[in-house]
Amino acid sequence: MEVKTSLLDNMIGVGDMVLLEPLSEDSFLGNLKKRFDHSEIYTYIGSVVISMNPYRSLPIYTPEKVEEYRNRNFYELSPHIYALADEAYRSLRDQDKDQCILITGESGAGKTEASKLVMSYVAAVCGKGHEVNKVKEQLLQSNPVLEAFGNAKTVRNDNSSRFGKYMDIEFDFKGDPLGGVISNYLLEKSRVVKQPRGERNFHVFYQLLSGASDDTLRKLKLDRDFSKYNYLSLDSAVVSGLDDAANFRTVRNAMQIVGFMEDEVQSVLELVAAVLKLGNIEFKPESRCNGTDESRVKDKNDLKEMCELLGMEQSVLERAFSYRTVEAKMEKVSTTLNVAQAYYARDALAKNLYSRLFSWLVTRINESIQAQTKARHKVMGVLDIYGFEIFEDNSFEQFIINYCNEKLQQIFIELTLREEQEEYVREGIEWTNIEYFNNAIICDLIENNQNGILAMLDEECLRPGTVTDETFLDKLNTICADHQHFESRLNKNSKFLNDHSLPHNCFRIQHYAGKVLYRVEGFVDKNNDLLYRDLSQAMYKANHSLIKQLFPEGNPAKVNLKRPPTAGFQFRASVGTLMRNLQTKNPNYIRCIKPNDKKASHIFTDSLVRHQVRYLGLMENVRVRRAGYAFRQPYEPCLERYKMLCKRTWPHWKGPAREGVEVLMADLQIPAEEISYGRSKIFIRNPRTLFFLEEKRKQCLQDLATLIQKIYRGWKCRTHFLLMKKSQIVVAAWYRRYAQQKTYRNIKSATTVVQSYTRGWQARKLLRELKYQKRCEEAVTTIAAFWHGTQVRREYRKFFRANAGKKIYDFTIQRIIQKYFLGLKSSMPSMSPIDRKWPARPYGFLDGVHTELRKIFHHWRCKKYRDQFTEEKKAVYEEKLEASEIFKDKKALYPSSVSQPFKGDYLEISKNPKYQKLNSAVDEKVLLADVVNKINRANGKGTPRIFLLTKKNFVLADQKTGQVKASIPLPDVTSMSVSTQKDGFFALKLKEGSASAVKGDFLLSSEHLIEIITKLHRIGATAADREKLKVDISDEFLVQFKQDKVCVKFIQSSPKNGNSVSCKRKNNRLLEVSVPTSP
Ligand SMILES: Nc1ncnc2c1ncn2[C@@H]1O[C@H](COP(=O)(O)OP(=O)(O)OP(=O)(O)O)[C@@H](O)[C@H]1O
Ligand SMILES: [Mg+2]
Repeated sequence: MEVKTSLLDNMIGVGDMVLLEPLSEDSFLGNLKKRFDHSEIYTYIGSVVISMNPYRSLPIYTPEKVEEYRNRNFYELSPHIYALADEAYRSLRDQDKDQCILITGESGAGKTEASKLVMSYVAAVCGKGHEVNKVKEQLLQSNPVLEAFGNAKTVRNDNSSRFGKYMDIEFDFKGDPLGGVISNYLLEKSRVVKQPRGERNFHVFYQLLSGASDDTLRKLKLDRDFSKYNYLSLDSAVVSGLDDAANFRTVRNAMQIVGFMEDEVQSVLELVAAVLKLGNIEFKPESRCNGTDESRVKDKNDLKEMCELLGMEQSVLERAFSYRTVEAKMEKVSTTLNVAQAYYARDALAKNLYSRLFSWLVTRINESIQAQTKARHKVMGVLDIYGFEIFEDNSFEQFIINYCNEKLQQIFIELTLREEQEEYVREGIEWTNIEYFNNAIICDLIENNQNGILAMLDEECLRPGTVTDETFLDKLNTICADHQHFESRLNKNSKFLNDHSLPHNCFRIQHYAGKVLYRVEGFVDKNNDLLYRDLSQAMYKANHSLIKQLFPEGNPAKVNLKRPPTAGFQFRASVGTLMRNLQTKNPNYIRCIKPNDKKASHIFTDSLVRHQVRYLGLMENVRVRRAGYAFRQPYEPCLERYKMLCKRTWPHWKGPAREGVEVLMADLQIPAEEISYGRSKIFIRNPRTLFFLEEKRKQCLQDLATLIQKIYRGWKCRTHFLLMKKSQIVVAAWYRRYAQQKTYRNIKSATTVVQSYTRGWQARKLLRELKYQKRCEEAVTTIAAFWHGTQVRREYRKFFRANAGKKIYDFTIQRIIQKYFLGLKSSMPSMSPIDRKWPARPYGFLDGVHTELRKIFHHWRCKKYRDQFTEEKKAVYEEKLEASEIFKDKKALYPSSVSQPFKGDYLEISKNPKYQKLNSAVDEKVLLADVVNKINRANGKGTPRIFLLTKKNFVLADQKTGQVKASIPLPDVTSMSVSTQKDGFFALKLKEGSASAVKGDFLLSSEHLIEIITKLHRIGATAADREKLKVDISDEFLVQFKQDKVCVKFIQSSPKNGNSVSCKRKNNRLLEVSVPTSP
């Protein structure tokens, strides 16, 4: 919540002098002192701010302070220059009222500082932005430039403004600065050529010499040494606390920000240098033939350098210092100048040069800072003008300055009264006439067009004939003699005749702020402000653009014989303009007071302050302000401030504020004449009444404080208790919550376990069921799928690719087999069973088949082969087969017998008549009839015999006769022996004891051995009554000859012993048969 304070709170002394009680000069001073001692340098008189120069920096201009005073009502906070600046700015911005801030006070009282504070405050609170900031910066930076050229150290102030300044700051409808216009008044140009003791010339000279670089100084033909320049006073060239060199840099920087071009700065510095050079020009008298002295420049070096700087011809300027041309009635008269006149001319030139340069600077700054838009502006004017001056020696300048202050006082009174009156009318309060001193009469004494002092001075200056300051004073003495504010020794009014404080060459004016004695010396001259035309013409001729601009009257083409307006006239005119300007604006006053002469902090010189209070007319101020009612305040804040003084209004008043205030005042029994009720404000006639209210309030506040304290303590304890209670509940709640949470968590976890088991069980059960169901479903599905598959396959088998493979395979196999069989068919081997050929197998997988087929084929071929045989042939082959069984691989003779058919009857016995008898002896069918050799045991020689074989016996008969030699029944034959070799020997062994065996066994040899043995063997095999005949095949066997057993041994003989088989008897028991080996 914003804390509302009041001017009345924490007051040191009285913040507003209007409330001073009792009001007297002493109490006024006492209040100022008290506040000053407590560093309260600002005090109000109503809306006027009195500012005491603290001569030290106070921490009251910080950005925080700016914020504190921003948008606050004037009386809300303790007095401050910011409050006034804020009020002015807000009423300019919000109510569209042009403002002017009039800052007055004597030299060193703090006017310039105050004006800067106002400007910086406005700059801080107004709008921001690139353009706006640039404008602000330019406006603020115009100060250092003007201060360098227009300020100087005086005995009263180290940074004394030697010119009056009025600056209009222009704002747009939003309150953002747009630009500004500066007006300057009456620069104290005499300072350029001469400074009083202990004072300095304008700062810029010192700044240039200390701060400029060596290069710049060389260009300007200057020397850093101050003592080389006549126009610079030396005794106080260096001022403590003033750093000229640093300030020079600040000024150059400021000039750049304001918008000066580099060549413009250079020109300005050249002019400053030229002034310094000018001061060094000295003159010497030169006697002329007519006895008069003529001035001549002593040392032309400075003159030369100055002319070089300004681009002038030296001779032109030199001549202007020696001659003066007076033009009268179209006639030109040239007179010589004596040394004094030459010095006068030189100084006049220097002063003019400098003051015109200063005015040019102001104009140039104005060009830069002027508002860029033509839109309607709101204006805030800041007037920093020299205050009333009362010196020991007051001259024309003081007269002018004091005149200006009279005018300001007048406007102040006028505007204050007007404002007061307007407020009364606004509030509907009856206007009571206010007694006050109106200084219009003094203004009239000075500025009256007919007989005003300035008018008379002008008249005197323009008058032909000898004009001196004395003649001017005489004139004053005659004309103003009766004026009650004019005093002079030679006045007709005899009352001043013996006034020794009033010298003869002086006059005294009773200003509203006190009496001032003016010495007339120099009045005429200063008013004339003469610069010889020769000099201005010489200046115009300079080849320097700035100089040319500064001396336009020197232009020969524009020779004006009319005298230029006098200084007094010009000043009166500009003051007139200023006053008219100020009258259109809402005035805000800052009255600056200097507390001591020593520029020291904490010193309050009573007399000095009293003097200032007087001539600033502050008492008058207060009186006017409280002529009717000393204090006024809107109803709402008034009721708010004092409502605790009445039970009916405390703590809240429900009705309108005005009624509340009326109830309050009635309750407090304030006399009716003490207060008046306006439309929005209450007016209190006497400060006493206000203080009574304040006192009551203070007491009441104490009671209220106790009450508040009581309530607060109660509240605090209650709050504490409630807090504790609340806390206890919170703690208990938290604890319970915690315990419950814990129990709950346990139950929950237990439940979860049980639940999980149950759920698990249920889930498993369900799972089982589901699984079973699923399995069933799957089974059904599978069966169905298979069934459908089968169905489909059945239906679509022919279309199946898988079957295609098999089909193709089967087909291929079939084809292969077909091909195989066809191939086989075409490459069949011959039907001969002994043909071993068989086509090669084409495929591995047919291996078995191939072999099997071969076998089958072979069997078939054999069968076929067999099938073609007749019974006889069959019997032959059976015999052949048997022969093979008996002899194959056992007897070497066998292979040769294979190809020979078994004829049986080689002798054709039945047909041959030779054997008829024999044939008839054999009653059975002859199975074999051949000729064999019967081997004789004695010599081993063979005897041919016919060998007949029947089913029952064999017969040996004589070949020639056919006589049967032996007929042996086959059952008597037990075995047969043959060799392994190629011979045809065989032995038929007979059963021992049989009748046939008497003659012993038979050893025979036949070409058809194989056939004979085979047939014998067959017959034996087919006979049912006896055993099969055994055939022994061996190269050694025994043969029973009668009683003896003879061994028949077969040996192999080499072919050289003959190709036939021979049998020899070796001994009784051995017959050796040699068989030749096959080749
Ligand atoms: N508010 C302030 N706080 C601190 N110092 C101040 C203040 N006002 C003035 N001063 C000091 O007083 C000196 C003189 O002030 P300033 O130059 O404003 O006087 P002035 O009234 O303009 O004088 P002049 O009429 O000679 O120009 C300043 O240089 C500064 O040192
Ligand atoms: Mg100043």
